[in-house]
Amino acid sequence: MDPNTSGLVQKLAEAGQSHLLQFWKELSPKDQQELFQDLQGIDFLEINGFFKSAMETSSSTKHEKMDGRMEPVPREVLGSVTRDRESLKDWEVKGLDCIAQSKVAVLLLAGGQGTRLGVSYPKGMYDVGLPSHKTLFQIQAERILKLQQLAEQKTTVKCCVPWYIMTSGRTMESTKDFFSQHKYFGLDKNNVIFFQQGMLPAMDYSGKIILESKGKLSMAPDGNGGLYRALGNQGILDDMQRRGVEFIHVYCVDNILVKVADPTFIGFCVQKGADCGAKVVEKTNPTEAVGVVCKVDGHYQVVEYSEITLATAEKRSSDGRLMFNAGNVANHFFSFSFLRDVVQKYEPQLQHHVAQKKIPFVDDQGQLIKPEKPNGIKMEKFVFDIFQFAKTFVVYEVLREDEFSPLKNADTQDGKDTPTTARHALMSLHHRWVLNAGGHFIDENGRRVPAIPSLKDGTDLPIKCEISPLVSYAGEGLEELVKGREFQATLMIDERGVHELVKNGV
Ligand code: UTP
Repeated sequence: MDPNTSGLVQKLAEAGQSHLLQFWKELSPKDQQELFQDLQGIDFLEINGFFKSAMETSSSTKHEKMDGRMEPVPREVLGSVTRDRESLKDWEVKGLDCIAQSKVAVLLLAGGQGTRLGVSYPKGMYDVGLPSHKTLFQIQAERILKLQQLAEQKTTVKCCVPWYIMTSGRTMESTKDFFSQHKYFGLDKNNVIFFQQGMLPAMDYSGKIILESKGKLSMAPDGNGGLYRALGNQGILDDMQRRGVEFIHVYCVDNILVKVADPTFIGFCVQKGADCGAKVVEKTNPTEAVGVVCKVDGHYQVVEYSEITLATAEKRSSDGRLMFNAGNVANHFFSFSFLRDVVQKYEPQLQHHVAQKKIPFVDDQGQLIKPEKPNGIKMEKFVFDIFQFAKTFVVYEVLREDEFSPLKNADTQDGKDTPTTARHALMSLHHRWVLNAGGHFIDENGRRVPAIPSLKDGTDLPIKCEISPLVSYAGEGLEELVKGREFQATLMIDERGVHELVKNGV
């Protein structure tokens, strides 16, 4: 382990990264060994190339003329839960059929660092404070279990929805331990497959890799689009092929309302013969900070809010809706053959995006500095960067209040996308399920609570109600449990029955 004799010194010099060894002599033998291994594992010329092209793309003037090149999603490629109600049942049947034949897999993007939420463990292990205290991972696992049951009821043959979970170097061990401690939440452990995305070093604006301590590079996951490289080099595509997977639903860990392997979405995409599909929610406010799915120069892509002018964001169609209203929620359908082509052919063409960040670093004296303003960049690919390669692309519009409530930030008063907003979104959906199934809520005086709870002082909002995914995937099957009955919150319905926690003094 000598940086000189091993050729490492020369390799670093050629790549202009010799500063990474500047504290070598001060390191303990153990730290030297770790740094040596880390450096040996990096292809510096490749990383320098990523840096150069990412910086060129981000500083080019290409974005300036974005507005004039954009076209909205045409109606013929759009499916909508509100505008195509007559087709929903057919799509659901088709999707369940694919699931029953074990052709569908789900793929969870869980390699992020969750910096805004600010916890030290993976976001999927977060408990947003539901009455059951289930974590995001458990909720998703139970939705998969329920869906397998629903599909099996159709056929009597046992089916399986494999769950591929992408983690990063930082989240792999704790994620795996968590699943093992919780016995895979009832799933067969052979059908829960973990794999790891790549990491890239953070760099300063001149392309020098940043040291976070004297013997450690500042590394970060390479974005959720790191998926495609990882699918190839971790043997995941091969695993999918072995299992006969034909359709893949890809989603983010932080959406508490996510309909994992949503049969209606899958059925819609399959019936349209799509190789790639994006679930979207309607953007109703022109200044909402959400990327929109649209066509640019004839190819589908997500255009970020920062790339367009307000005039374009405010444009409306003849029906009064925003013209560019297909809000991206990072929830996608891919056919296996499309995914294979992406991994084998197109992935190297994807450019890294540049995120300017405040990156803690050690200065030349070895002092740790926490900068107050951005001092460098992280490079990331995005999961939706591959839309441009699709031959048959479709868009599926769903209701935000039913399907999208991401957990991004820690709780603050009136905060957006927090544990509180996620918890409220889930309880409000389940409240509506109970009402739609013919149940009612009463207050402590036995009076019916209005269907739309009052916002008076904020303390009684929303009705506390939680339904286990093991009982209902999307609101189905609840009549026999709630029809004509009155409940006092907190109401919990799980596989053991219907419980009113207040009445029972819990
Ligand atoms: P975000 O971009 O919101 O990032 O990820 P994050 O890590 O959750 O949170 P911040 O930005 O650090 O606060 C959206 C989804 O993409 C996944 C995340 O786990 C989340 O499901 N992701 C993100 C990855 O899988 N890998 C990455 O490198 C980045």
